[in-house]
Amino acid sequence: TDDADKSMDDELQQLVHTLPREQGWRVSNLYLYQGFWCTALFLKPVISFQTHFRAFDSDVIIVTFPKCGTTWLKALTFSTLYRHQFAKDEDEHEHPLLNFTPHQLVRFLEHDVYLNNPCPDLESVCVYKPRVLPPTFLMLPCPLPLKTPTLGEENQEPLSLEKVFDKFCRGVCIHGPLFDQVLGYWNASRENPEKILFLKYEDLKEDIVSQLKHLAMFLGVPFTEDEEKRGVVEEIAKICSFEKLQELEVNKKDLFITGIPNENFFRKGEVGDWSNYLTPAMVERLEKLMQDELGNSGLTF
Ligand code: A3P
Repeated sequence: TDDADKSMDDELQQLVHTLPREQGWRVSNLYLYQGFWCTALFLKPVISFQTHFRAFDSDVIIVTFPKCGTTWLKALTFSTLYRHQFAKDEDEHEHPLLNFTPHQLVRFLEHDVYLNNPCPDLESVCVYKPRVLPPTFLMLPCPLPLKTPTLGEENQEPLSLEKVFDKFCRGVCIHGPLFDQVLGYWNASRENPEKILFLKYEDLKEDIVSQLKHLAMFLGVPFTEDEEKRGVVEEIAKICSFEKLQELEVNKKDLFITGIPNENFFRKGEVGDWSNYLTPAMVERLEKLMQDELGNSGLTF
């Protein structure tokens, strides 16, 4: 009912007022929720997801940090895991990536599926099986029940690079602190390598074919000798490549749900482009931060 919805929204408003807050890069505020920075708009779907989501043993969960290759990993996982379901046959079925964006095929949970529906039917969202799910947050379940979104985000002029960089170094960025997220998964992958595969963008760029074989093995659908001979691995690498996806009409037009133009997900796709934007002082600060944060974790970049 409207009354129930209103009281839920009141609860959310109250929660927001109790959270640490900082000005965001493009949105007016970020809120520190369960140790991670999040915009007000996504607070509600995050909590809905934590409250209602039930995993299956067969689920494949993609977790990435924003701008670290989510789009690519979605395309690769989708194309590898489901390759038998849309292999080109006499009916000339086309690869779904030719007509849908990676974000339409593997939909974000909090940024899409749970955004306007606190308890969506994931069976109808995940057409192919087993389910591939990309939550943007993977945190502890929260008992707070919330219903409809009322918190909007005031868009603002982006802050300067200097300001944003400083915030980033302090951990204040969407889904930050980066190192807490990354190290959490790094350590978990070392403890449980069968269940958690840790991938680096740089490694994928360096040798996509062997990384794809590794991914397929991890997903439980290793490439057969025959597939390897027929060049299936290379075919997947090609259709998911930056050059291929970037030129597709479907990835050039329209906006993603949150209003971002789809083409923004395909900017340059090269390792190390940061060196064209950061000053030497910034690089020094970042390197020191990485040393401090990664310490002797064994994770290097
Ligand atoms: P750049 O901004 O450095 O170009 P996300 O998908 O998490 O938002 O990450 C975006 C980054 O991945 C962008 O990096 C984008 O260009 C790059 N990217 C997108 N698709 C890619 C692909 N198929 N292969 C390699 N890099 C890709």
